[in-house]
Amino acid sequence: MTTRRIDDCLSARDGRLYIEACDTLDLLAEFGSPLFVFSEDQLRRNVRRFQKSFQAGWPDGPVVVMPAAKANWLAAIQRVLATEGCGCDIYSAGELTMALNAGVPPELISVNGVPKDDDHIRRSIAAGCRITIDSLEEVEVIERAAAELGVTAAVRLRLKPVLSRFIEHSDFVTEGLVPTDLAAIAYKGGLTFEQVMAVGPRLLQLPHVRLVGFHQHHGRHRRSLRYWEAQMAAYAAEIGRVCTALGGYRPQEIDIGGGFAIRRDPFNAATDYTEPVQYAALTAISRLLSLLGSRPRYTVMARLVDAIAGHPNRHPAPAIEAYAETCTATLRRELPRHGVDTRGLTLQLEPGRSLHGDVGIHLTTVKAIKRTTTPIRWNVIVVDTTEFWFTGGRYEHHLHHYLFANKTEAPMTGKADIIGRSCYGDRLLPAVPVPDVAVGDVLALLDTGAYQEVSMSNFNALPRPASVLVTGDRASLIRRRETEEDVFRRDVMPAHLAR
Ligand SMILES: Cc1ncc(COP(=O)(O)O)c(C=O)c1O
Repeated sequence: MTTRRIDDCLSARDGRLYIEACDTLDLLAEFGSPLFVFSEDQLRRNVRRFQKSFQAGWPDGPVVVMPAAKANWLAAIQRVLATEGCGCDIYSAGELTMALNAGVPPELISVNGVPKDDDHIRRSIAAGCRITIDSLEEVEVIERAAAELGVTAAVRLRLKPVLSRFIEHSDFVTEGLVPTDLAAIAYKGGLTFEQVMAVGPRLLQLPHVRLVGFHQHHGRHRRSLRYWEAQMAAYAAEIGRVCTALGGYRPQEIDIGGGFAIRRDPFNAATDYTEPVQYAALTAISRLLSLLGSRPRYTVMARLVDAIAGHPNRHPAPAIEAYAETCTATLRRELPRHGVDTRGLTLQLEPGRSLHGDVGIHLTTVKAIKRTTTPIRWNVIVVDTTEFWFTGGRYEHHLHHYLFANKTEAPMTGKADIIGRSCYGDRLLPAVPVPDVAVGDVLALLDTGAYQEVSMSNFNALPRPASVLVTGDRASLIRRRETEEDVFRRDVMPAHLAR
């Protein structure tokens, strides 16, 4: 058997894609197509890399990895993380239920988000979770709920440090070249210094609330280490400023949030910031060519479109270890400069995409092939999945790495659009290199472990696919395929319309 290693848990064996020791084609035969597949080993490896590298850079106190549940809240995945000693960043009442069911210790759960429903706050306090305050309105709700429950609620303030000198454009905003510092200010999360000061002094007086530290999360604006250095420096300065303004307050914990990129980083790879220039050029060229008649115009335009679509933005992200080193070194340097003692300070982080991304792949089968020769050459490969099962990725303008699971070593001989099954354009991969493809071939989209399965919708009344967890040579169903009955379960027919 010839084996080519693709990464930790993916390999090509005799031309077939394996995840851990499972043949992906066998998985499809057993569980049906399309299918989300997750690797337990990859998840454990990733989380241990975060734990080890952050702890190595932070000898001052404990490090707690609190993965963002929103990125992947499949119960089995969360259970694996709980067995690795992780906490959890949650955003909703549903995520709270999931985390508690998975066995995450409540004191390691950070309740994030704005707005938080009153019931959710109350349940979280009753369970013993930490509330990360992200609006002035929630302070009184927390105090009241804690008083009624007869407990003291542990809270953190979510800060919003300004990255005043970081003007490289944000990947997070895809509408244009918006500087990162402005994009971060416009993002809804976090409290400005003035907002913190409006509640901070009162917070320290409230009888049923204990301020245990600070939180920040900016989001995935840039993948560079320079960005992380700037973020941590700004965070340290803001913590120092708030501590001083609160009369020398000393935090027990600081949470740096998430936002670090996936290694192969599909994020915003589909956005082309030269678009306005291309548009102007294409319009001018197109007008000029129409003077020569439609045939030459189609020939030249098809080549141009092909050339443009063939150059997606693709750079790998730094390694987890480099990210950990940058964050911890910057915090250890900058916090004392701003009067904050790091000794005994707990450091928390909430990786989402960078932890889960390469844990998952999506397998989908080729159902139809359309080859157009006139007026332009254009190939379309239609697969049995849809962009509506990658809503998170579409929202973030992802462009995923891919390979054909039954033809891993086949040379790329042509180009095609890979199109999903919904009635929308559903252009999953635009004008990408492909081997000689036939109906029945299996496409594997890589790095679909974060934000994809959890954001699927039922557009076109399509039942959503199943999810499987691979552990060595064993594959276990962790979320079953939907049935049509599931799709229509919430519909109610008013009596006057019932036949
Ligand atoms: C508070 C908080 N923490 C962590 C994350 C995870 O971010 P990422 O998946 O970019 O690492 C998010 C994502 O939105 C978040 O809102």
